[in-house]
This record gives sequence, C-alpha cells and structure tokens, in this order.
Amino acid sequence: MTEGLRVALPKGRIFDEAVALLRRCGVPLPAELEASRRLVLAVPDAALTFILAKPSDVPTYVEYGVADVGLVGKDVLMEEEARDVYELLDLGISRCRIAVAAKPDWRPCPAPRVATKYPRIASAYFRERGQQVEIIKLNGSVELAPLVGLADRIVDIVSTGQTLRENGLVELETIAEVTTRLIANLVSYRMKSRAVDELCARLEAVIRRQRTEVAP
Ligand code: PRP
Repeated sequence: MTEGLRVALPKGRIFDEAVALLRRCGVPLPAELEASRRLVLAVPDAALTFILAKPSDVPTYVEYGVADVGLVGKDVLMEEEARDVYELLDLGISRCRIAVAAKPDWRPCPAPRVATKYPRIASAYFRERGQQVEIIKLNGSVELAPLVGLADRIVDIVSTGQTLRENGLVELETIAEVTTRLIANLVSYRMKSRAVDELCARLEAVIRRQRTEVAP
C-alpha cells in the first residue's frame, strides 16, 4: 500500500471487531491503536493513516475526502443516505438489527411518540406503513425513553437483546439487518485504485475464508 491510504474507523460498538478484522487481513496497524486516545494514528512504513471518528461521522469524513475509505455500520449509511460515497463491501461484522421496541403493555394510539437516534430511518419506516408518529430525536440510551414516559415506542439497534431485556422492553418489528460496510470516497476510489483494490482484496479473502469456515 504505497499510495497513502487514510482509513476512517468508527469508535464505539464496531471498533473492536473492525480492528480485529483488519488485523486478520494483515493490514499493518499502529501499535497504540487500541490503547491511545489519539484520533489520528499513522503507520508511515505502510503509508497508512487511521482516523478515529464518531460512527455517525465516518461517512462525512469519507465524503469530504479527508479519509479515502471508512468502515461504518449500514445503520449509519441508511440514516446518512445523502452522503455521496461508494459502498464497496459488506464486511459481515458487528451484525445487529434496527428494530421497533416498546414496553410489553404498549397499546396503539393516535400519533405515538417514537424516540430514536435514527429519525430518518424511523420516519421512512412509519410513513411507508401509513402510520402517523411523532419522532423524538435522542443521541443515545434510547431505551430510557419509554421507561420514563418520554416515548411510546423506540427505534434502535438490537444486538444481543440484553439492553431491551434488562429494561423490560420487547422487540416488536425488525426494520433492517445491519452489518459493517467498507465505503470509499468517490475520487480516492479512482485516484488511489491500487491501494483501495488491495485493501478490498485482503478483506474479501478473509471474509470468504470465514464464510467457508462457518458453512456446514
Ligand atoms: C447500542 C444500542 C442499544 C444497545 C443494543 O447502544 O443503541 O442501546 O447497543 O445492544 P444489545 O442488544 O447487545 O444490548 P450503544 O452501546 O451503541 O450506545 P448508545 O445507547 O449510547 O447509543
């Protein structure tokens, strides 16, 4: 990888699995990637720079070309649909779903309040079903909203289901399955095609190997 590739990585939920996947691919990583609080880390010998961003901001860094490629959840791509980036690969990691949930005793009511970090996804989902809802945008701990009477339902990520269970909420409907994707800046995809292709090939090889390992 000699063209100098800048890779945006999402901090938080996806980070550990993303780093583990890159490591399995043999991508040279900065020694202090997991321990440091630095947000830009370079591996000069491999001409690689890693940019650690808030997950929902990864498409922005890639669209504006300050990162050539990025790893990001499909949930973020769906919510940030206006972002002009190429979606190159389904990496198959950090599998979860976007779901509607509520307290078990919820009842249909006119224009229920729906709390979510994903206002665009939630609006589109209920609009397509002809259901009028009031969307309340939150930035995290969305499961709190029905518990304290802020919302009737929530739209949020469900992974293990533990957060719902421990807060006495039930999953009502699945909106979309989510995995991590590799995205690329439109210009970098052409101008740094060798480095981007090499990264894709490494990732594809490992993903293929993993699929055959889990297949019966
Ligand atoms: C996500 C999501 C749920 C939780 C689901 O939150 O918003 O709260 O994980 O995971 P589980 O089904 O395995 O319990 P995250 O940790 O990203 O933080 P947030 O609540 O601040 O958004």
